[in-house]
Amino acid sequence: MDQVEYVHELAGQKEVDTWMRTMLLYNSAVKEIGTKIDILNEEFKETHRYNPIEYVKSRVKSPESIAKKLRRYGYEDNIENMVEHCNDIAGTRIVCSFTSDIYRLADMIGRQSDINVISIKDYIKHPKASGYKSYHMIVSIPIFLSDAVVDTKVEIQIRTMAMDFWASLEHKIYYKFEGSAPDYISRDLRECSQIVSMLDAKMLSLNEAVMKAKREQDEYEEVEKNAHRRLQEEIEKSSKK
Ligand code: GTP
Ligand code: MG
Repeated sequence: MDQVEYVHELAGQKEVDTWMRTMLLYNSAVKEIGTKIDILNEEFKETHRYNPIEYVKSRVKSPESIAKKLRRYGYEDNIENMVEHCNDIAGTRIVCSFTSDIYRLADMIGRQSDINVISIKDYIKHPKASGYKSYHMIVSIPIFLSDAVVDTKVEIQIRTMAMDFWASLEHKIYYKFEGSAPDYISRDLRECSQIVSMLDAKMLSLNEAVMKAKREQDEYEEVEKNAHRRLQEEIEKSSKK
């Protein structure tokens, strides 16, 4: 069942109990997603000898922010509206080194059979007017309770370290000016966002060049080793004659 159906089933219980049970779902969902991401990262380390994820941050939205968001969207702040209209109560942010890792991870997450992708917003291909870049997925994941299985929504944001740096700085500035920063600051931020894209592109091509050079070096060493071994065998053979 989905969360709206679950809240309907709980109707008649004390509101505080419904609230606790609903928050239990969100807390469990970020744990489940966190474990899945950990496993993908470990597997990647095993097979490709490198770590696509720099760090992961998870949080469950505070009751105050949930109420604020619902009011901003014109909804009364109750639990039913919250599970139906607020998609980012459970949130996980994955920070990677390279843009290519973002799409690889998003694809691996989306293909897991127990994850249902509800929507995707690609603010990397289509940045926001502010300059914001990130890959957003709203997914649902089944949470197994003693008496029900409830598909619970999680917002997953995937971005590079450079995008994350930009977003946290912009967020701080936005709050300082309560949403209306002077024009020249917004302009500078948009310019920084372009620099972030340039840096990400440069870092990606640098990494590809490093990997190519390393492969070529390994191949060369292999050839050298084989030639050395053959020479050694020849020497041994002729000394036995
Ligand atoms: P919210 O009501 O803010 O959650 O937006 P939304 O439901 O329209 O979804 P959207 O995908 O646009 O944004 C979801 C989240 O992305 C936000 O809660 C922020 O964490 C992040 N975000 C979106 N736009 C910006 C931005 O311009 N600057 C920064 N720093 N973060 C942003
Ligand atoms: Mg949000």
